[in-house]
Amino acid sequence: MNPIHPALLPLARAAQRGDFGELEETLAVALAKPAWLRPEHRIGDPARYMRHILYVDAADRFVITAITWLPGQVSPVHGHQVWCLYGIAEGTLTEEQFNPSLQDVKTKTYEPGQLADRDLDGTLIHRVSNRSARPVVSLHLYGVAPENLTTGINRIYP
Ligand SMILES: [Fe+2]
Repeated sequence: MNPIHPALLPLARAAQRGDFGELEETLAVALAKPAWLRPEHRIGDPARYMRHILYVDAADRFVITAITWLPGQVSPVHGHQVWCLYGIAEGTLTEEQFNPSLQDVKTKTYEPGQLADRDLDGTLIHRVSNRSARPVVSLHLYGVAPENLTTGINRIYP
């Protein structure tokens, strides 16, 4: 196993096995007690939400990243080319979910320790934002090889 924070090890093992039930359980534990979270994860990038790579699978099956959302930062409306799961370590994150016609059907807010709705089959279309006054740190797993991290996750809608 590549270097990994011990708090993320159960998560990586579950992802290696492709056991999504266990992945959700271990993700919840990693969010409830985010010992993996480093001070720089709270700083972010004023230009856009920022991904911090925490772990890459040696066999290119998945990556684990933290994302820092500064107040006001928002993702594009997007779907996913790969499976993904995420949850909140710090702060309050807002997620709008859309139907295939891109009508806004549901808005959810997630608090620390909560898992967001997962997308295992590429059907979820959403826009994620920090509408609060404080930074948000979320923890994400994506079923993507690290070299495809920038273009291989999201399906962006114009
Ligand atoms: Fe997403």
